[in-house]
Amino acid sequence: MATATRSADPHDNPYLEGNFAPVPDELSVTGLPVTGTLPPELNGRFLRIGPNPAAYETGVGHHWFTGRGMVHGIRLRDGRAEWYRNRFVRGDAPEDSPNTNVLAQGGRLLALVEGGGAPVAIAPGLDRMRTWDSGGALRRGFTAHPKIDPANGEMHAVTYLLDPASEHLRYVVVDAAGTTTHTADLPVPGVPMVHDMAMTATRVVVLDLPVTLSAAAAGRLAAGTPQSGDALPMRWNDDHPSRVGVLPRGGTAAEIRWFDAPRCYVFHVLNAYDAPDGSIVMDVVRYDTVFRDRFRGPADGLPALARWTVPAHGGAVAEQIMSDRSVEWPRINRELTGRAHRFGWFGGIGPESLRLSDDVGRDRGGSFEPGPLVKFDTATGESEAHHFGAGRVTQEPVFVARPGAVAEDDGWILSVVYDGGTDRSELAVLDAADVAAAPLARVHLPRRVPFGFHGNWVADDEIGAQPA
Ligand SMILES: [Fe+2]
Repeated sequence: MATATRSADPHDNPYLEGNFAPVPDELSVTGLPVTGTLPPELNGRFLRIGPNPAAYETGVGHHWFTGRGMVHGIRLRDGRAEWYRNRFVRGDAPEDSPNTNVLAQGGRLLALVEGGGAPVAIAPGLDRMRTWDSGGALRRGFTAHPKIDPANGEMHAVTYLLDPASEHLRYVVVDAAGTTTHTADLPVPGVPMVHDMAMTATRVVVLDLPVTLSAAAAGRLAAGTPQSGDALPMRWNDDHPSRVGVLPRGGTAAEIRWFDAPRCYVFHVLNAYDAPDGSIVMDVVRYDTVFRDRFRGPADGLPALARWTVPAHGGAVAEQIMSDRSVEWPRINRELTGRAHRFGWFGGIGPESLRLSDDVGRDRGGSFEPGPLVKFDTATGESEAHHFGAGRVTQEPVFVARPGAVAEDDGWILSVVYDGGTDRSELAVLDAADVAAAPLARVHLPRRVPFGFHGNWVADDEIGAQPA
């Protein structure tokens, strides 16, 4: 059992140990050693982001999701790994340090976070940064999981403000030029945590699930007397509904229709699309609960991949669990965003990874540790895994299409793998069609990359004129 004495030690937190721990400094290293052969078509940079809290940001209330962001970049060109750099994310104000996703949209490289922080635009070399709020339109904050339409570069986002006075979500659309072209406030009480959303070719789906801002946790945090995990004052809420809202792309609150959803929490949507009968198919990674039993990370239990069907008219969301294998960090071929997909790639989560107690049986609050890379075929229900070896684990895999590819899985999987034996990380490049095969290339990084959240491959031709 947790005791007041033990929880008073700010470092007795699994999310500050091992490869969850922050790294202290910013490195710039050129000429990275490579084992194998890097595909020469990979000209760009692989970026990862996660929290890298400074000492003053940790303590009894520390939560994995909090702390200033750090971006890690690996530059590939013409079959070589030119550099590794890591930089704290620095916007115009000290508090502008998104830690959750980094992606390119409309020629801008953006670091993103939910709940109120504005995006930060980053130069391709990671050497310059500034807050970017689309001319003020995103001053209220944004999300880490916008959906970008591959056809026109339009970015759709469902955002919320982590504020007890907030009574609505905000749906925004940003075009490829960076102009916010649509804003609609969607009345939703209770300040639910809205980490992701879904988008089809015609509609967007809002997730209103039973994890909400806890007045008690927020009060303790404001008073300077936080308890376990209060730095993220969101908790499972038995009194909050579980539902999804469907509205047309570019729609308003008057057009939203709500459907009861399974009582669970979803951080991440793999993808969604319109079915011929008018329903919406959306594949999600779902948890029975989060932040109900354990408050420092999503460690109540293991996640599962599920297919949700949102009916065309009345009724409730139907759920089908798709695999026995526990996965997180779902990724598709992004050219299929909002369109029917077959394959998903994931970071696998194993029961052995959810350390609910340590070797003397103390309640450590659990931690959420990654494992193998998993490819799942929604057409067959089959999955295959790439195990990187003892003590070697991946988080989110990123699919990069081969230039000219026709098949959905013709390309590469890029993922940062942590080796607990050497306390170093590497960038692994796999054949996306045959993930169980040996890596095509391994780029040896000069340090470990802490377990963070999300990242993307950003090809050179995606970021020309860079405003940062
Ligand atoms: Fe996420």
